[in-house]
Amino acid sequence: MRIGILGAGMIGGTVGRLWAEAGHEVSFGVRHPERLHSMLSGLGGKATAGSALDAVAGADVVLAAIPFRAWPGVAAEIAAALGDKVLFDATVPDPPRDGAFGDAALAREDGVAFAVAPLLPRAKLVRAFSTVMWTTLQSQAHRAGDWVGIPLAGDDEKAVALAARLVSDAGFDPVVVGPLSQARRFDPGTAVFDSGMSGPQVRAALGLM
Ligand SMILES: NC(=O)c1ccc[n+]([C@@H]2O[C@H](COP(=O)([O-])OP(=O)(O)OC[C@H]3O[C@@H](n4cnc5c(N)ncnc54)[C@H](OP(=O)(O)O)[C@@H]3O)[C@@H](O)[C@H]2O)c1
Repeated sequence: MRIGILGAGMIGGTVGRLWAEAGHEVSFGVRHPERLHSMLSGLGGKATAGSALDAVAGADVVLAAIPFRAWPGVAAEIAAALGDKVLFDATVPDPPRDGAFGDAALAREDGVAFAVAPLLPRAKLVRAFSTVMWTTLQSQAHRAGDWVGIPLAGDDEKAVALAARLVSDAGFDPVVVGPLSQARRFDPGTAVFDSGMSGPQVRAALGLM
């Protein structure tokens, strides 16, 4: 699968490596692709880097792993190329770093997802990879025993199924929580956020068993 990743930092770079190792074609979209030279060398030519627009245009599916405050600008840049493609959103507001846009998202009763969704209304949005620290992604992929759980929520069933497959390919346990309205159940401040829970523990905490 051709996967575009917006951002190649702690989350984007880590998940991108896991997907490249699983055999996917990964393309990172960043403002400074020239800075990724050594990282791409480490991936043995299994990934490329360019602009955000390049990454989206050539992708079957896109993962957003950019600072939350960057959303308005990045969304405007990619909206036409993204169209109705599947978009996995790992972004999380981190106050005060993400400014008024981040604060407003955290204050929403319907959840952080609904601060992003209106920016790209045609995209098939799935919240994914938003709850797990990058160090956990880096060290716990494909571990022995119960895999770490990654909650997923989205309104398009096929997009959620694709997210579940790609979470498994990365070495984690996909936990389908429900439509996008349910994503607030794993937003910052909830029991499962940044908890390192296994898949069964996430299901139990969310009453999905
Ligand atoms: N770190 C974690 O453990 C963790 C866990 C869960 C969720 N998250 C969320 O995931 C997202 C990414 O976090 P991260 O820790 O991976 O961040 P990071 O290490 O700072 O990486 C951010 C990436 O976004 C790129 N980028 C693209 N457009 C940008 C813009 N307009 N402004 C700034 N950077 C831009 C940066 O590359 P260029 O500067 O070259 O553009 C960089 O590759 C955040 O929303 C964060 O809250 C993080």
